[in-house]
Amino acid sequence: MEKLDNILLNAKNEIDNANEKQSLNNVYQKYLGKDGIVTQELKHMKELSQDEKKTFGMEINRIKNEIFMLIKNREKDFERLKIEKQIESTQFVDLTVPSRERRGSLHPITILQEKLIDIFLSMGFTVEDGNEIETEYNNFEAVNIPKNHPARDMQDTFYLENGQVLKTHTSAAQNRIMRKYGAPLKAIFPGRCFRNEELDASHENTFFQIEGMMIDKDVSVANLIYFMKEMLTNVFGKEINVRLRPGFFPFVEPGFELDISCPYCDGKGCKVCKHSGWIELCPCGMIHPNVLKMGGIDPEKYQGFAFGLGFSRLAMMNYDITEIRLLNSGNIKALSQAKIK
Ligand code: DAH
Repeated sequence: MEKLDNILLNAKNEIDNANEKQSLNNVYQKYLGKDGIVTQELKHMKELSQDEKKTFGMEINRIKNEIFMLIKNREKDFERLKIEKQIESTQFVDLTVPSRERRGSLHPITILQEKLIDIFLSMGFTVEDGNEIETEYNNFEAVNIPKNHPARDMQDTFYLENGQVLKTHTSAAQNRIMRKYGAPLKAIFPGRCFRNEELDASHENTFFQIEGMMIDKDVSVANLIYFMKEMLTNVFGKEINVRLRPGFFPFVEPGFELDISCPYCDGKGCKVCKHSGWIELCPCGMIHPNVLKMGGIDPEKYQGFAFGLGFSRLAMMNYDITEIRLLNSGNIKALSQAKIK
């Protein structure tokens, strides 16, 4: 028995000292191979008495198994050491380790635009494209702002040498879209707009709007209120009340400023709504008959509403961004702090 213990002890040492596959294999052959030490011992079994056979048999089997397990474990060590070495020599790339680099994400404006598009699509509107460079006609005349009209002052913009302009509002696409589809029509057209503005915390020379138009028989202010309420309730994820105040825009009659009940304090009054319970959100109105006519639609037969939602503002409100300039800044650090809901 003592001899067996010594065999195990020696085998253990040799296994520990083996540091590559070949030497481990040698140890295996030395002990467990055909002519190995343990195998030889097993052969002596037949010289023993029945009782001795039993105890010796159990013991030598235990030792055989233990040596076998030690060799297997040592093999696993080799695998681990190999991987560790590869990691050290940087040949190994573990794709499951999270990157230390900043992850990319969509811009808050894009996220909000996609949300608004989804909402309007679900209400049966189509989504149209508008040009960024427009004719003066489409940007102004076609929406009832003739030359020398004072409303042009409020929308000073950048003129190109060929007389075209960077569009000052998404309304610039109204005429093209009416001509393309005729009535009835239910469309939104998001886009980037440009104005020659004095810059401050809430004014930028480049900003985003979504224009919406619905033209059909018997369209009234009630339809306008319904769709705006529905859209806002979806954006803010809770019921939002709206109210209309009179507002002047040459392309609508009557024209309105649409206010929403403050989504932060539910109309009770807070800093954001300057304690009034309401926030001015979006101009809108019933499309002026001149605009319909210029779009090739008979105002005797059809009416419609239109709105121009400044969603740079809406994005600021929705994501708690206080500086409009941040939206166009490409400042990833600041934008990634926007509280995307
Ligand atoms: N185009 C206007 C602007 O940018 C906004 C606007 C007002 C659009 C009333 C509309 C509307 O469609 O009905 O100032």
